Parts: sequence; C-alpha cells; structure tokens
Amino acid sequence: MYVCLCNGVTDKEIKASIKEGATTMRALYKEHNIGSQCGKCCQCAKSILNDELIQIAEAQVQIQVA
Ligand code: FES
Repeated sequence: MYVCLCNGVTDKEIKASIKEGATTMRALYKEHNIGSQCGKCCQCAKSILNDELIQIAEAQVQIQVA
C-alpha cells in the first residue's frame, strides 16, 4: 500500500529500507522524502518503522537465547 502519496512511497519500500539499516524517520526522509510535503504520512511511516524495529529486536533476542 502507498504510505506517502506525495512521493509515491509504499510500505514495502519503507520496510526494505529498514532491513537495509534505516532506524530513524530522518533516514527514511533522506532516502524517500517521507513527510517532505504535506506530512500526512509521518504517523503511518513511524508506526511501520517502530513495528519493524521491534520485530528485528525480537529476532535478535531469540537468536541470542537459542
Ligand atoms: S503523504 Fe507523505 S508528504 Fe504527503
């Protein structure tokens, strides 16, 4: 789905950036211009960022416990 209509950025593109190392909204802004125009996408992008970072952290904990 499109997260940022102004810049044509999808959730898949955001998730790919996070998997490649983006950990902040600033990083997503630099890579995709998220929030650079109307700003309506910021909350949704932040939610995706937080969810993905939690999943990455949980996966790392599971690896360390195993
Ligand atoms: S929807 Fe992202 S800046 Fe407008």
